[in-house]
Amino acid sequence: MSRTKIAELLRTEPTGTEVLVKGWVKAFRNNQFIALNDGSCAANIQVVVDHENTDPALLDRIKFGAAIGARGALIESQGKGQKVEIKASEIIIYGDCNPEEYPLQPKKQTLEYLREIAHLRFRTNTFGAVFRVRHALAYAIHKFFNDRGFYYLHTPVITASDAEGAGEMFRVTTLDLDKLPRTEGGEIDFDQDFFRRPTNLTVSGQLEAELGAMALGEVYTFGPTFRAENSNTTRHLAEFWMIEPEVAFNDLVDNMDLAEDMLRYVIGYALEHCADDLKILEERLVEEEKSKPQDQRSEMALTDKLRFVIDNRFERLTYTEAIDILKNSNPNKKGKFQFPVEGWGTDLQSEHERYLVEKHFKKPVILTNYPAAIKAFYMRQDEPKEGVPGPTVSAMDILFPGIGEIVGGSQREERLERLVQRMRDMHIPEAELYWYLDTRRFGSCPHAGFGLGFERLVLFVTGMTNIRDVIAFPRYPGNAEF
Ligand code: 4AD
Ligand code: MG
Repeated sequence: MSRTKIAELLRTEPTGTEVLVKGWVKAFRNNQFIALNDGSCAANIQVVVDHENTDPALLDRIKFGAAIGARGALIESQGKGQKVEIKASEIIIYGDCNPEEYPLQPKKQTLEYLREIAHLRFRTNTFGAVFRVRHALAYAIHKFFNDRGFYYLHTPVITASDAEGAGEMFRVTTLDLDKLPRTEGGEIDFDQDFFRRPTNLTVSGQLEAELGAMALGEVYTFGPTFRAENSNTTRHLAEFWMIEPEVAFNDLVDNMDLAEDMLRYVIGYALEHCADDLKILEERLVEEEKSKPQDQRSEMALTDKLRFVIDNRFERLTYTEAIDILKNSNPNKKGKFQFPVEGWGTDLQSEHERYLVEKHFKKPVILTNYPAAIKAFYMRQDEPKEGVPGPTVSAMDILFPGIGEIVGGSQREERLERLVQRMRDMHIPEAELYWYLDTRRFGSCPHAGFGLGFERLVLFVTGMTNIRDVIAFPRYPGNAEF
């Protein structure tokens, strides 16, 4: 007899047919009622043990966390809260779980503690919900792009380029760090390294995605990316997953429309397919926020917030317009910003982004046309515009409530001369990126794309508050456990 998953059993009518379930014990009440979970859904199934006909030694081994199987009739539940239950005729113990030693306990444990035992935290209701929602979002992203005729492109994880030009890279080498080979001039001899050149883990698949888009038209990547930035925050990881669509013939407006459609679609998908898990996460958030002062609690329940994002167009404005709003804002005038907004040209801090999204517009915001000086070399240079103090690029950042930047993208500079000039100005090695420049030499065309930080999306949809709690095994400064 093969096992049936609990998600399926809970949808089945109680006909008395014999079924087999396998899972982990969540609770065992009155030496009779087992709440069993197998990960297929948030809910448990109730297994009723016939304790008169079951060996007491076996009953003793039904402990919180133990892996067991139960065979018996699927009947209408006598108790409240569930439609069906299993009247067990046989219990099988697969793996015992000693409650004296088990790091998980059947009570509330802090997220900080659970992070230390991330190898076991999947077993909690909260993390079960988080990882089911994470899966649904990943699937929805593939479905969104596939339904629109995009091709999924696998860009390399090991690369010799720094796509963002920010230098925050993890080196990849097989050289013996204890005795690095040196050239006659005393430099590290990369000729002896595996790839015969310095290489690193990718910070973005964008440059390669652009190459694909120049023939396949519409592509996207969805893979791990790595940043050695020393940001010990609740929004940054050293290893995170990024979705990067790249579309030939798209301009900045098309790019914003695509990003907005995608976010709406995937959030809607989660609302439709993860209702039970989102309910658990919504209740968790309410509990967490009870310890906060009233004015710092969310104004909306989690699922209301998700619905709000789907139902309202994002606010679109330029960086220059945003600076004006921020300069004249109350917190700026009253000296409440840690970084006062003085003038045009500086990067926005997360407190500024959050003011715009959470206080001023009260909805997601797309900021465009940032100063060229604070953006990457590949972004398309705008024509000078009256009222805009300096050169700008066709960049767009999408800012979300509670998250800040969730998407970063741009129309790309497709004009060879202007791109080369900008690379020179920014000391980006032209010779190494000859292949990137070739797309501008041969059949260049306007195109645009963006990067969605997957964990930031999962953070938003699950209502979790620390990015380390939405990826199975987070990598951050000082931590590469598991
Ligand atoms: O804004 P970023 O750096 O843009 C790029 O990498 C472009 N190549 C994307 C493109 O146009 N194809 O990163 C894109 C997004 C950010 O908006 C953020 O959501 C996420 O990636 N992100 C991070 N997420 C977690 N931890 C980090 N350290 C992150 N850095 C960026
Ligand atoms: Mg960015």
